[in-house]
Amino acid sequence: MCGIVGYIGPRQAGDLLVSGLRRLEYRGYDSAGVAIANGELEVRKKEGKVDELAALLENRPVEGTVGMGHTRWATHGAPTDTNAHPHTATHGRFAIIHNGIIENYVSIKRRLLEKGYTFDSETDTEVLAHFIEDVQEETGLSFPESVRQALTQVEGAYGIVALSMDNPDELVVARNGSPLLLGVGEGEHFVGSDASPFIEFTRHVVYLNDGEMAVVRRDGYDVSEINGAPVSKEVHELEWDLEEIEKGGFEHFMLKEIMEQPEALENAMRGRVRADEGTIKLGGLEYVTKELESADRIVICACGTSWHAGLVGEYLIERFARIPVEVEYASEFRYRDPVLTEGDVVLVISQSGETADTLAAVRQAKQAGVLALGVVNAVGSTIARETDAGVYLHAGPEIGVASTKAFTAQVTVLAQIALLLAQKRGTISDESLRQHLDALAAIPEQIRTVLETDEQIQAIAREMRLAQNALYLGRGLNFPVALEGALKLKEISYIHAEGYPAAEMKHGPIALIDRFMPVVFVATRDATYEKVVSNIEEVVARQGSVIAITDAGNRDLDELAEHVIEVPKTADAFEPLLTVVPLQLLSYHVAVMRGCNVDQPRNLAKSVTVE
Ligand code: F6R
Repeated sequence: MCGIVGYIGPRQAGDLLVSGLRRLEYRGYDSAGVAIANGELEVRKKEGKVDELAALLENRPVEGTVGMGHTRWATHGAPTDTNAHPHTATHGRFAIIHNGIIENYVSIKRRLLEKGYTFDSETDTEVLAHFIEDVQEETGLSFPESVRQALTQVEGAYGIVALSMDNPDELVVARNGSPLLLGVGEGEHFVGSDASPFIEFTRHVVYLNDGEMAVVRRDGYDVSEINGAPVSKEVHELEWDLEEIEKGGFEHFMLKEIMEQPEALENAMRGRVRADEGTIKLGGLEYVTKELESADRIVICACGTSWHAGLVGEYLIERFARIPVEVEYASEFRYRDPVLTEGDVVLVISQSGETADTLAAVRQAKQAGVLALGVVNAVGSTIARETDAGVYLHAGPEIGVASTKAFTAQVTVLAQIALLLAQKRGTISDESLRQHLDALAAIPEQIRTVLETDEQIQAIAREMRLAQNALYLGRGLNFPVALEGALKLKEISYIHAEGYPAAEMKHGPIALIDRFMPVVFVATRDATYEKVVSNIEEVVARQGSVIAITDAGNRDLDELAEHVIEVPKTADAFEPLLTVVPLQLLSYHVAVMRGCNVDQPRNLAKSVTVE
């Protein structure tokens, strides 16, 4: 959701900013723009994709070694050239780009209108630009100090970069609620909403915290609190490299990420699952294990796919460790004034580590004085830094907007947490623990087998691509898988899909079933299997077309279902790790066949940094 890149150094900024913006495309956006200092401030911006901005720059090139670029995901005002960032003020002498939402922009705008300011766009960002201009005119302060002064009066979330011709040898950046980091090079510095735009130049980064701003020059940077006090910052080294964020020969990031799940899960278990010793080691939880194992209740908060992983986590933790678990949409959590008491632990799950609602749940937990833990993929992200402790997924960067390998890695980590707690609490026998550790360790290889069904799934996708609706059903642990399968299909192929617990079908959705309605059953031979078969019969009786995911060698469904996709047998508890994979492939192929933009589905953003 909105991307930021900034550069100051010896290189030409134009190409660097455009290639940085391409790397940020995965976040989801609908217009793009750059501003480059070249004696005066040159702005180029365009509705649509970065390619269109690049074409504009080709027609009207700009030289210059200081600049900033932005991809905008519309919040205030339609995606148009005018609403695209950067926005300028002081007769074009300064420009600003902004991620987030200025909540009190209406009252600021009213004051500025009364003073005679006019606005070209409908954005809150242009209001901020004129507000900074007004502060500078009223106070005579330097540009960075005017930005600081203005921001102290702004409510809402922002990550901003500003460049003024007062001093074109510095970028002014600030963060409050929207991620921003600096890339530290030799005689050059970068700014990014994440590190992907500059990772080919430097892996040394400085994370800004909420309420901090920085003045960035070629040869250094000064960080301070927006309220004034200087802050000294640590330089971190990133683990991910460029290769990991490129497509590596695959047509789409989503397919690459589906296919790399075996390695992602191996990494999520490396050094942690010790099947031979019958132990689990989660370094990130070491200091809080005691508190966690004696928790009265674990409240899992997350959004979207991560919330589905949380539902699987609920089953696993309750089944193995016998600790009550509740799973909450992070976006609802704080608004209903949740009761958090001593003995509660809040566990948030987030691939990006930047989801605004999930971050708010962390802060709510900390405010209530309860332990806040994170299961996060993006190292150094805000949630990773603000939680008391946690476990990284180590799944590698996930670029495709539709989450795939992060989901399976999240479930893998939650399974490890569940087994670790079970061992500590004595709710699992040594033998069962060993069996489950063996089963978990075997999952990556089994996913390799599932990925071999790709051709069969393409054939099914060819039929399914014409559907307008689809139903996904499962029970027990496979219910969250049904939800996840439906979410994957709707978000990238725009086919309306619903996930339901299979038995709930009779209470409503059965009315939708006819021969045009594909019904996907996740029907592995676990405790609820017989009941699920009855549900399949009910669909077949109404001429619904059934696609079933089941265990290898199960012939029961051959007569009933139009298509049967087999996955290897694992421990019941880990079935979601296998059954979700065909559903990811199915939605991928359907979306490709429908000509959809798989990696950047319409209206969606990879990192949802607004509430
Ligand atoms: C769906 C998807 C989203 C995310 C959700 C939470 O494929 O990717 O539903 O799961 O926006 O994002 P994170 O996990 O980054 O907090």
